[in-house]
This record gives sequence, C-alpha cells and structure tokens, in this order.
Amino acid sequence: MSDSRLWDDVDAYFTARLAPEDDHLTAALRGSEAAGLPPVNVTAAQGKLLQLLAEIQGARTVLEIGTLGGYSTIWLARALPADGRLITLEYSAARRVSARRNSPRAHALVDVRGPPWVPAQAARDPPPFDLVFIDADKGNNPHYLEWALRLTSTGSLIVIDNVVRGGRVADAGDTGDDVRGTRAAIEMIGSHPRLSGTAVQTVGGKGYDGFALARVVD
Ligand code: DHB
Ligand code: MG
Repeated sequence: MSDSRLWDDVDAYFTARLAPEDDHLTAALRGSEAAGLPPVNVTAAQGKLLQLLAEIQGARTVLEIGTLGGYSTIWLARALPADGRLITLEYSAARRVSARRNSPRAHALVDVRGPPWVPAQAARDPPPFDLVFIDADKGNNPHYLEWALRLTSTGSLIVIDNVVRGGRVADAGDTGDDVRGTRAAIEMIGSHPRLSGTAVQTVGGKGYDGFALARVVD
C-alpha cells in the first residue's frame, strides 16, 4: 500500500464516521465537476474542520476569499446562526454561477460576490468578520491577508488553505508565484504584531497539504 493509498483509506474512514456528506454536499461536488471546475475543493473532513472552527469561534459573520463551486461555503454556512452572514468572493463569473447553483439551501445566509472586492465590501458591510477563509489564487495570499486584517477585529480567526505547496513553501529559492505569495503570508503571520498563528501540515484525500491559522490579537 503506497502512502497516499493509506491516507485515502484513513480519510475515508474518518469521513464516513465524522463528516459524512449529505445530498446537498454531494450535489455541490457533482455540480462543480459537471461545470468543469478543478477538483480542488476541501475534503469533507477539512470542510467539517472549517465548520467546527467557525462554531468554536462563535462566528456570526464569515468572509470566504475564493469560492470555487461553493463546497467549502456550504460547510462554513452550517456553522452560522439563522441571522448569520457569509460573504464569499469569487473572481470568475462562471464559478459564481456554479456556486450559486450549488448552494441553494445555504443561500439565505450566503452572498456570492465578484469584483470589485474589498473597498466596496468594506463600505457595504462594516467589519469585523469573525472568521476569514482565504482559498483563492495563492500568489495574492499576502494581499488577502492584509484585507482580512482590515476586515476583522481582535479575536477574529483567519484560515489560509494550501500553505504547503507540495513542500515547496520551505524552499526559499522557489520563485513560483504561489510559493512566494504563501511564504509572504506565513512570514506576515509570524511577524505581524496583531497576528498570532501557526500552520499545520495535513494528509488525506487531497494528498499532502496544510492550513495556516492566525488569530487577530490586541
Ligand atoms: C489549488 C488550489 C486550491 O485551493 C487547493 O485547495 C488545492 C490546489 C491549486 O490551484 O492548485
Ligand atoms: Mg484550497
């Protein structure tokens, strides 16, 4: 059994018992696939982690940067109270259409928006967001983290997906946009006076990856 097969089997075991997908999530995945979106959604176990983090946070307002087909959006929306609000930002118009189609039940809480993003966002929806999930183009991670800082307040949680980049994040000589953007975000978390964070490496259905977590502090 190769390592990745082992990870897949353990992920399937955990997912079946802890984060089983219901029809709504399954339909969102099928819809994303049918729309030809890249299959880079969070896994079910990761989606449940996002839901739990938002619940632990007592989040009433969530900002997601990078909607894709809205799969992670559904998990995050499940953490919210009936009067909660989730704004999810997606650059691609086609992906916004898919996400709106994929998340009809979460729709009352979810607002899928395209550009222009943050300035209009800040004007229309006063911060703070209780949780920000950054999962878009990785080269812009430091910019999204700056936005997140402007749109949150003390106690808010910022989560960044895909910070491992296949291990390349640790290679200072790697000049890929994704690696440079992710390294800049990690270094900002480490050095910013208003951020306290860490990063966890993960294995599972999506292979080897990881999340960065940062709490906004005084
Ligand atoms: C990619 C993007 C993601 O958000 C992800 O979770 C995995 C991979 C990518 O663009 O390669
Ligand atoms: Mg991702």
